[in-house]
Amino acid sequence: MKEVTVHDKVFELYISAEKIQARVDEIGKAISEEFRGRNPLFVSILNGSFVFTADIMRACEMDCEVSFVKLSSYQGTETTGKIKTLIGLDSNIAGREVIILEDIVDTGNTLTHFLEILDTYDPKSVTLVSLLTKPEVLKDRVKVDQIGFEIPNKFVVGYGLDYDGLARNLKDIYQLKGG
Ligand code: IMP
Repeated sequence: MKEVTVHDKVFELYISAEKIQARVDEIGKAISEEFRGRNPLFVSILNGSFVFTADIMRACEMDCEVSFVKLSSYQGTETTGKIKTLIGLDSNIAGREVIILEDIVDTGNTLTHFLEILDTYDPKSVTLVSLLTKPEVLKDRVKVDQIGFEIPNKFVVGYGLDYDGLARNLKDIYQLKGG
């Protein structure tokens, strides 16, 4: 599928499932090399990261655990800048090596806010992994340790990412056509 319509907008194919999988495998290998024997705790930020998390975990060859949290700031295709509540950070974080898994870091608001909360749980270390970043928007606000793909400031869907609830199930990543 070269194009998909989601709600009222048309998106075009941007990153194929094969390319995503190849990059996810590379990142999984790098994480395994760094963390093998240290039983890191993946903290996956819902909703968008659930697909990436499932693939990253299966690309890692080591003991590891996962926990899911929810913290959202988006409605529609524009950030509202408002951070909603955080739920789910119930695992024992103190003294753990935490690897945060994000689908996309756009303004960095979500992550900045989340890192502040996480810090109060006293983790041993925090590593940030994001499938996508939008460097034009992010500037140097948050340092992401592992990035799948750096993309321009255009709205994308698929592979867990949604537009008003739809398109998370698409295997490839699509970019808003035109604007
Ligand atoms: P930030 O707080 O601006 O960094 O936004 C982070 C969150 O906004 C991500 O976890 C996504 O849920 C959502 N988001 C940002 N950009 C996009 C996009 O292009 N497509 C879909 N969701 C996005």
